[in-house]
Amino acid sequence: MATPLSLILCFISFLAFPPLFSAQYETHIVYMDSTVKPKIFSSDHSWYTTLLGSVSETTSSVSTTSSSKMVYAYTKSINGFSALLSPNELEALKTTPGYVHSVKDTSVKLHTTHSYKFLGLDLDHGLWPVSNYGNDVIIGVVDSGVWPESKSFKDEGLGEIPTKWRGQCQTGKEFNSSACNKKLIGASYFNKGLLANNPNLTVSMNSPRDTNGHGTHTASTAAGSPVEGASYYGYAPGTLRGMAPKARLAVYKALWDEGWYLSDILAAIDQAIMDGVDVLSMSFGYDGVELYEDPVAVASFSAMKEGIFVSTSAGNEGPELKLLHNGIPWVLTVAAGTVDRDFGGTFTLGNGKSLMGYSMYKGKYTSRKHSVVYIGNCEDDRAFKNVGSHKVVVCRDTHNNLNKQIFSVQNQKHLAGAVFISDNEDLKTYSLRISFPTLLLELEEGQILSQYIKSVPEPVGSFMLGRTFLGTKSSPKLTRYSSRGPSSTCPFVLKPDIMAPGDEILASWPSNIPVAYPSLFSDFNILSGTSMACPHAAGVAALIKSAHPEWSVAAIRSAMMTTASAVDNAMDAIKDMGFNDKPASPLGMGSGHINPNEAVDPGLIYDASTEDYVNLLCAMNFTSRQIRAVTRSDSYNCSSPSLDINYPSFIAYFDGVPAVKKFTRRLTNVGAEYSVYTAELNQIPGINVEVHPPRLEFTQQLEIKSYTLTIEWRGLLKHSLAYGSITWVQIEGGKHRVSCPVVATTFDK
Ligand SMILES: *[C@@H]1O[C@H](CO)[C@@H](O)[C@H](O)[C@H]1NC(C)=O
Ligand SMILES: *[C@@H]1O[C@H](CO)[C@@H](O)[C@H](O)[C@H]1NC(C)=O
Ligand SMILES: *[C@@H]1O[C@H](CO)[C@@H](O)[C@H](O)[C@H]1NC(C)=O
Ligand SMILES: *[C@@H]1O[C@H](CO)[C@@H](O)[C@H](O)[C@H]1NC(C)=O
Repeated sequence: MATPLSLILCFISFLAFPPLFSAQYETHIVYMDSTVKPKIFSSDHSWYTTLLGSVSETTSSVSTTSSSKMVYAYTKSINGFSALLSPNELEALKTTPGYVHSVKDTSVKLHTTHSYKFLGLDLDHGLWPVSNYGNDVIIGVVDSGVWPESKSFKDEGLGEIPTKWRGQCQTGKEFNSSACNKKLIGASYFNKGLLANNPNLTVSMNSPRDTNGHGTHTASTAAGSPVEGASYYGYAPGTLRGMAPKARLAVYKALWDEGWYLSDILAAIDQAIMDGVDVLSMSFGYDGVELYEDPVAVASFSAMKEGIFVSTSAGNEGPELKLLHNGIPWVLTVAAGTVDRDFGGTFTLGNGKSLMGYSMYKGKYTSRKHSVVYIGNCEDDRAFKNVGSHKVVVCRDTHNNLNKQIFSVQNQKHLAGAVFISDNEDLKTYSLRISFPTLLLELEEGQILSQYIKSVPEPVGSFMLGRTFLGTKSSPKLTRYSSRGPSSTCPFVLKPDIMAPGDEILASWPSNIPVAYPSLFSDFNILSGTSMACPHAAGVAALIKSAHPEWSVAAIRSAMMTTASAVDNAMDAIKDMGFNDKPASPLGMGSGHINPNEAVDPGLIYDASTEDYVNLLCAMNFTSRQIRAVTRSDSYNCSSPSLDINYPSFIAYFDGVPAVKKFTRRLTNVGAEYSVYTAELNQIPGINVEVHPPRLEFTQQLEIKSYTLTIEWRGLLKHSLAYGSITWVQIEGGKHRVSCPVVATTFDK
């Protein structure tokens, strides 16, 4: 999608990956088994340094001594280090005791291409007041840094910095310590990996300052302070607020205009864990590695053990299945949905009728009446030869050539504007790109225009642009680009987990980075992508954590998932824009659309402990070393391996022949002491689902009850995907509904 940001990102990735350094030395992230560290070493760091010295090929050059080859020694995120190594040195390292495995340092992908009101957050009711707006919860954002002057980072009305905070405000180019305050409590930057991979590089902004915009946008979405009178060239006007407007922000810049490296991201996560963040938001991903090799997966396991909630984006590779990023069982994986808002305007005809259409034109235009000329196919420049100046042309996109038509009209400098009539489903996206006064009409409105033009000798019309329409039905919809599951790294856990607003999101933006080409500037920008959905979910997690500080990471995630909504604002099943508005499946939207006010009070939760995740790793047949690489614990217990983790969703794989799969789940009562629930199953064609027992009676808080769910594939179904849900409906003690998606599939894992 050619949104402004994806243009910027293309530009960046161009800059980022030229082979600046083509020598045979490469940076690797090396996982070590700390249990075999000889006792003589006082620290892991000294052990790693000695090991590097012992495998070093060269001792002459200053730049290749063992200590300078170390890029980072990690302490909190993984057991191991990153270092610049030759192929021979890497081979030698592999034979030393304690070596587990290594991955080459590589790049990650960023996931970008009035949302709080749409989510029902209200200043006086619901989750915001209950959680005190996330006060004293610290959200760490690993991204491209921050533009501290943005109003989203003002600290008016915030109390003292939480005492648990151990981080710093790291100074650097155009960033002194006064950039931080009681909102932006920390900022630091990590580029040793970037520099090790590109030794001759001069980093243009060597500080936490954001020169991309992505980090400012995501941080303000998660926890921005209220900004009155925000808008994007008049679009989406109103008060801008982050999801957790009183939460504190700690920004970790690891994504540079010059490149994005895993070694730097790991160092950022390492620091965030040490600093004492409560929630981490990470809107990027990494392709095709096993869980134990994926530094983000391993680091987030450490974070989870420390009680840090990790929110990640699913990626923008949809609608094809199985291209999901961050399919990690111990993090939240977030899909992107639309919000109930459209940008556009009206074209008022000479007969007084007003037609509504899409537009995101940001420049000047006149609202006076113009003559209207019907052209039809506007692809060909010659079509405009006899059209006089200051006219509005009408183009009809009949064979999906809207792009060419827009391009061709753009070159006609003498026109006053254009109206396009099209049945293209993606008019919204087209509207983002247009740099002249334009309205994109759907067929129905288009017909009214055509009839009017035919009915009068001199048709006229006038534009009214820059309008924001709220309450769009149906919303949310799952966006086309949002990546779909199953997770290739751990197909046994259904991913993504949940959908959050990600399409056309307004948030803060550095004032010196153009929001549109060639040079339009704004303090706010509208961006789309799962990158935008991830910080929404991180903010909601912070609110829940603030309301329930004692809850585990899994409990918070369960609360968000079991209360998510599977229906849109027209009370229909949420639609999938990637599949012609057919109902979205759990492989696209997970449990459904995030519902913050319900999530704070879920009634029951599916909790999971570190042991549960270890049992999962054991059942995935990882070796002892691989498991220890993830758990970073000397002792782990594989006596009860199980792929059936206590997760608030179900996915069962079948070979296409009749078979039965059985799952067991534990529910913890976090509602009223005496609570009774019955199971509600919706019938899924072709499969038979049964639950036992069908009724659960709790008599005290935190009581745990188990149930089993069996899924029987009858082998008669041609479709390879069937899905439905199981909902525990409270019949005494409250009104909770605790819902989980159930998926049965014959797709390969
Ligand atoms: C880096 O700069 C040095 C000194 O200018 C030069 O000798 C070397 O070839 C450069 N390396 C790369 C990879 O460009
Ligand atoms: C920090 O930077 C701001 C603007 O960038 C400047 O106004 C302020 O004087 C600086 N403060 C210190 C202590 O240097
Ligand atoms: C693990 O190994 C066992 C025994 O070989 C096998 O039955 C099982 O399918 C394997 N599990 C996975 C997830 O590959
Ligand atoms: C491993 O866990 C099982 C229960 O799952 C327990 O009975 C056993 O004692 C544990 N073993 C060790 C070494 O902790």
